[in-house]
Amino acid sequence: MNSISITPGKNNVGAYINNVNLKDFTPNQFEKIKNTLNKFGVVFIKKQNLDSASYQGFAKSIGQPVIYPRLKGLDEKYPFINVIERKSEDKNLSFGSSWLHQDTSYLASDRPRYTMLMGIEIPSGQGNTIFSSGFNAYEKLPDEIKNKIENATGIFSSAGPIAVTRLEREKEMGIKSSKSLEAEHSIVKSVNGKKTLYISPGHLIKIKNVKEDEADYLMNYLVEHVNKKEFIFSYEWSKGDICLWDNLSILHMASEIKNCRRVMHRITIK
Ligand SMILES: [Fe+2]
Repeated sequence: MNSISITPGKNNVGAYINNVNLKDFTPNQFEKIKNTLNKFGVVFIKKQNLDSASYQGFAKSIGQPVIYPRLKGLDEKYPFINVIERKSEDKNLSFGSSWLHQDTSYLASDRPRYTMLMGIEIPSGQGNTIFSSGFNAYEKLPDEIKNKIENATGIFSSAGPIAVTRLEREKEMGIKSSKSLEAEHSIVKSVNGKKTLYISPGHLIKIKNVKEDEADYLMNYLVEHVNKKEFIFSYEWSKGDICLWDNLSILHMASEIKNCRRVMHRITIK
């Protein structure tokens, strides 16, 4: 058997982990997976096709899976697995699309840190997930900007720019809309020894602890910055693929799906 190997994603965003079977992995392999996740922020593990027990089990080896406040669990046995279904007749934007974001940045404490998706039913040629690396984006900031935002905090709201999509989606899924949630976090974070940008453009509504007359300029600058092509990797799914990312260092968004059904199983982990 070939041994586990790592191939960085395009633009050094995330990494593929090759030659591993998540139904049955060794402690050494798990250490390599965890180290790669820490280093790159997102890992891509192709064609795993795990049953729900193995999938939920793998999530538990990463951390504590959480019940996601806005979505229903698969069933009683697998309460941590959320089904994200896109019906072929759905006309609005996909769940989480149109704005790069970091999941649940609008929660003050107890935010789930990791999000994991497995492709269950995948249409070909569309519905990529777009990732941007906060590590790479921070590293490439001019020193002048780094200095200005050193102690900055952001106000993140569930009613931020992404909310139109969420409200539409909740309506479509029959979920009662909750009141908006808001939280403040520092926008420069040190994660696994490296600095990263935490600005979740889909939720960010204001930057604080910078010069008042520069706050809007800096917010727009940073949002534009993380959207630059050089920090983006558009991940093309195959059935059974697993993507697992750290919301502290990785931004993501969905992309358009037209006239196709797609099903993903999602787990969030603390
Ligand atoms: Fe998301």
